[in-house]
Amino acid sequence: MTMRGITARNRLWLPPMCMYCVEAADGVPTDWHAVHYATRAQGGFGTIIVEATAVTPEGRLSPMDLGLWEDAQVEGHRRLVEAIRAGGSIPGIQLGHGGRKSGTPPMRPRVPGARQGTLEGWELWAPSPVAFPGHAVPTELDVAGIDRLVEAFAAAARRAVEAGYEVIELHGAHGYLIHEFLSPLSNRRGDGYGGDAQGRRRFPLRVVEAVREAIGEGTVLDIRLSATDWDEAGLSGQETAEFAQELVGAGVDVLHISSGGNVPADIPVGPGYQLGLAAQVRQAVAGGAQVVGVGLIEDASQAEQALATGQADAIAVGRAALRDPYLPLRWAADLGAKAWDEAPWPIQYWRATWR
Ligand code: FNR
Repeated sequence: MTMRGITARNRLWLPPMCMYCVEAADGVPTDWHAVHYATRAQGGFGTIIVEATAVTPEGRLSPMDLGLWEDAQVEGHRRLVEAIRAGGSIPGIQLGHGGRKSGTPPMRPRVPGARQGTLEGWELWAPSPVAFPGHAVPTELDVAGIDRLVEAFAAAARRAVEAGYEVIELHGAHGYLIHEFLSPLSNRRGDGYGGDAQGRRRFPLRVVEAVREAIGEGTVLDIRLSATDWDEAGLSGQETAEFAQELVGAGVDVLHISSGGNVPADIPVGPGYQLGLAAQVRQAVAGGAQVVGVGLIEDASQAEQALATGQADAIAVGRAALRDPYLPLRWAADLGAKAWDEAPWPIQYWRATWR
């Protein structure tokens, strides 16, 4: 898979997955992160997207999230990049801001006293003062606040490139800040950043343009979107397919298509349930960008089928790769690759073939 002249060895992506294990609430990667990502690189993923990394401290979901809001965080990320590259994968990172869902970690076993709702004292910023059900009411961003966040995304992206990441993924999905602007369910603004689709897209497009400029021509720009809110009054696959065309015009190379997360909804979860949305976006961009499909794609033939039928250009595998970091190498074997020659396991494991 070639993106801006950068070639990944295959079409499997490790999608961003928060580990919630930063130690000193300083946003700096730990040994756990280095081992976790290195193992999945050795396991054969073509491209690895490091978990949601906050562009401002208050944009984190928990105090244990990664960050790139200051220069001191760059060095730790460089270590992750090296570990990923040593395993043969293309290093990428997801940059995000939690908006009204900041300070509300979806999995918070290690945050004392925070079993539900927003962590106490956490400052929430969003397009409109509309709470995510069960969480605190956010403060509406004024235009100066919007300007500051555009710059925070650009500055974090610059740091990410400095650390060596080759793919910058913007988190525009799952009900976090960028998605909150896009969706009429969370954006009730009366100014030029709300209202019709053009207004709701203005902040996301400003972020895309600022980041595109910050990262330079040699870096891949990817955006993760929730293609639908699974709610009649919210975003639809059609609207997202149209927006995708604008994003390509603004310099996006890859669209990573997920869904939901902005409001509680009945989601028809099942094998490959978001692939139809990826296909719709892929058709709309007609080769102008590549599309990553994700969501309960858990066997090799299902993934191969989605690629062969043109539903997506790449497949991201999340939870199954938490269970088995060597999943890409096993899938290659499932599809008939000859071990070692066509799907090289780490050379240190050569005795694994002895019987
Ligand atoms: C996630 N997911 C996620 N998504 C995202 O855009 N940024 C993130 O940081 C996270 N964090 C995260 C943590 C954990 C532990 C899980 C399981 C998931 C969603 C993830 O990237 C993926 O879209 C879903 O897990 C669906 O794909 P699978 O797991 O069915 O292959």
